[in-house]
Amino acid sequence: MFSDKDIAHFSNLETPFYYYDLNLLRETLKVCSEAASTYNFHVHYAMKANFNDKVLAQVKQIGFGADAVSGGEVRKAIESGFANDKVVFAGVGKSDKEINYALDQDIFCFNVESLQELQVINQLAEKKGKVAKVAIRINPNVDAHTHANITTGLDENKFGINSWDMPACADILNVSANLEFVGIHFHIGSQITNLDVYKNLCVRVNEFAAWFEDRGLSVKVLNVGGGLGIDYHNPNAQIPNFEAYFKIFADFLEIKPHQEVHFELGRALVGQSSSLISRVLYVKNGKKKNFIVLDAGMTELMRPALYQAYHQIENLSQQAHAESVKYDVVGPICESTDCFGKEVLMQEAFRNDLIAIRSTGAYGEVMASNYNLRDAIVTVTSEDI
Ligand code: LLP
Repeated sequence: MFSDKDIAHFSNLETPFYYYDLNLLRETLKVCSEAASTYNFHVHYAMKANFNDKVLAQVKQIGFGADAVSGGEVRKAIESGFANDKVVFAGVGKSDKEINYALDQDIFCFNVESLQELQVINQLAEKKGKVAKVAIRINPNVDAHTHANITTGLDENKFGINSWDMPACADILNVSANLEFVGIHFHIGSQITNLDVYKNLCVRVNEFAAWFEDRGLSVKVLNVGGGLGIDYHNPNAQIPNFEAYFKIFADFLEIKPHQEVHFELGRALVGQSSSLISRVLYVKNGKKKNFIVLDAGMTELMRPALYQAYHQIENLSQQAHAESVKYDVVGPICESTDCFGKEVLMQEAFRNDLIAIRSTGAYGEVMASNYNLRDAIVTVTSEDI
């Protein structure tokens, strides 16, 4: 929801830009942190969702760790002040250079995604005379019932080590002097709104934890990943139900006294606290369709083009009760997929109207590109107003 003051301020700014509501972000982080503390759960923020400096500063302040998926993200986490021993490094394709950098930084652990990677980390750690902490990312073959492009925990996905490779994995761990096994890691997908799938995940986590412990490998960390979705259709609902989410794990995981439960939330923490603000460049009324052409495109927000993702679109310059028209809301990029929504029923739009595309805090700014040699996207926060 934007106040008249916000809108008046936006109208003086050059568009497009990402607007961050830092108050809402802080409130969301606080609610999550309090819900996690009830159960003594640990959260690592999945910084791939948004590594804007101002966002990271808030996340760091609440005391969460960082989940990084590249050497660049590991570096960014450390430079942003996250404690080295609160940084985890995941990803299916870590290069030697990235592994060496993370070893030098003594991060908390590597979430390892293949047998070969395990051996490479052992060799590189040996060369440095170090012991690398590792968690094994297991592909649990649990269906997250989310969009096919963002599901990760099925046998056919590239992520994690499959269950049939677990004996070989345990063998490597048992003979590798430069690896310290800390636990097991899972992530079944993103934008999960049916929380029941997490119950299925818990069953698999319990099975795998027992399997490792039976082989003398103590599982200290149960990392269940992230994936909690947000309500894109109701951006003003704002704060996801963290309490219900954590309660599932408290109820269904068999947590032993020597074990910690770790989470890697991204979208749910940052998604609702940002909107992409743009202006109408042109209105085209056709025989079959009406278009509004915005000054923002898929280069600023890729999700609709890539996943046909829904984002609520609002005209901030017209009264809510103004006459409604159906528009295809498109951007200026020379691609037919550069479309934010088809047949969107919204207030009649005019050139220069301000348009808000809501719930863009996660996987928005970070996925921007300069295709078509577009200008870099600008950000504005509630504190700049
Ligand atoms: N942990 C791992 C290992 C992951 O791969 C991801 C997300 C997360 C945690 C955080 O998931 P979240 O809590 O944010 O759902 N670009 C896509 C989403 C890709 C998610 C990739 N992995 C989108 O715009 O919907």
